Amino acid sequence: MATAQSHAQWSSRMGFVLAATGSAVGLGNIWKFPYMVGQSGGAAFVLVYLACIALIGVPILVSEWLLGRRGQKNPINTMAQIAHQHGHHRSWALVGAIGVLGAFLILSFYSVIGGWALAYMRDAIFGSFSGLDKTAIGTAFETFLAQPGELLAWHSLFMLLTIGVVAMGVAGGLERGSKLMMPALGLILIVLVGYGATTGGFGDAAAYLFNPDWTKLDGKVLLAALGHAFFTLSLGMGVMMAYGSYLGEDVNLLRAARTVVIMDTTFALCAGMAIFPIVFANGLDPAAGPGLVFVTLPLAFGNITGGLLLGSLFFLLLTFAALTSSISLLEPVVELLEERTPLNRIGATVVAGLTIWALGIAALLSFNLWSEVKFAGLNVFDLLDYVTSKFMLPLAGLGAIVFVAWKLKQDDVQRELQLGSGGFALWTLLARYVAPIGVLFVFWNNL
Ligand code: PFF
Repeated sequence: MATAQSHAQWSSRMGFVLAATGSAVGLGNIWKFPYMVGQSGGAAFVLVYLACIALIGVPILVSEWLLGRRGQKNPINTMAQIAHQHGHHRSWALVGAIGVLGAFLILSFYSVIGGWALAYMRDAIFGSFSGLDKTAIGTAFETFLAQPGELLAWHSLFMLLTIGVVAMGVAGGLERGSKLMMPALGLILIVLVGYGATTGGFGDAAAYLFNPDWTKLDGKVLLAALGHAFFTLSLGMGVMMAYGSYLGEDVNLLRAARTVVIMDTTFALCAGMAIFPIVFANGLDPAAGPGLVFVTLPLAFGNITGGLLLGSLFFLLLTFAALTSSISLLEPVVELLEERTPLNRIGATVVAGLTIWALGIAALLSFNLWSEVKFAGLNVFDLLDYVTSKFMLPLAGLGAIVFVAWKLKQDDVQRELQLGSGGFALWTLLARYVAPIGVLFVFWNNL
């Protein structure tokens, strides 16, 4: 069993920042963000989203790291221990428990989509989209989803890759994996944005992302933006708390948060500037929703010069992005098992990974054999997504920030954040009022 002394650590500050950025940059940036922009009215959504990230996302991100770093344990024990030390009830451990359970549930369906990315990478490499028309591409996607065996194979492969990286440990797996994949991600994205600039659609794409149409703004857009700010920064899932537990005292949390948030946002916007030029240049629909990446883009890749290379690169990008996030989702569960059971790192990773893989099967069957199996009108896949993103994530995030802002000694927090009195006043305003009220507002609306 791991002891406090043997608790793993990141090997460097940069390694930590890259791993945290890897967690943040994922399917949420490359797949979800562009289609949400498409559905929610372009730049107006982007601006609201940026405000949510700055005012609510950053304080919660910093709070989760701060708690993890103080506890140096899995999220449940971290919360229990810090609450106890400060004379608060141990039930604060629930915040950690909801987080770990949330990560467990999210990874089960995240891996299914990670599998789609892998499958589409194969298709792109073998030129399977070439010459297909809109109907054929749409049908190909539907046929793919209708085959449980096919989905299972790709989900299994994706989960296997995730387990393989996480089993190698914090510095040797999570950190090394991110150090390899993140620069590759950046490079691929630059190539794709560069291609976008050569198409006739670049200006339209920029206008779409950066010219706000305020009439499109309503409560729904606001809710979607805040929900996505949570998801994209990997908040409320024990992930950032677990990552914080491997941190040393020398890291400035606010500075690290600034880097992670800037990189995450840049990746999302660049994904938009890679995808929308192709969409506009080919006269396709920017508001296609979830199918934007798996139907609209393949259609373009199958019909433009260089589409084979561009398509392969794009789906490699999507796969890497998914993988640097999925490893982070597995981590809190593994850390918990490592510390609370006799299992070693590898054993804990295999047990956690296989259990999540099994739940993922229920998720992938929602697209075919179990499409009629519904709970409260939702199939298993949608139910997992709904419960985690609408309830667990806001609750755990809220718990973390309320605890840091209201339950810890504020002098210590100020020292830890290395803030002067002005900076700390701003922090207090955001952490005590703005962020919690924002999350409560979303939570209330979800109810
Ligand atoms: N942030 C990742 C994304 O944008 O795809 C997804 C994610 C990873 C969510 C880790 C939650 C998490 F804990």
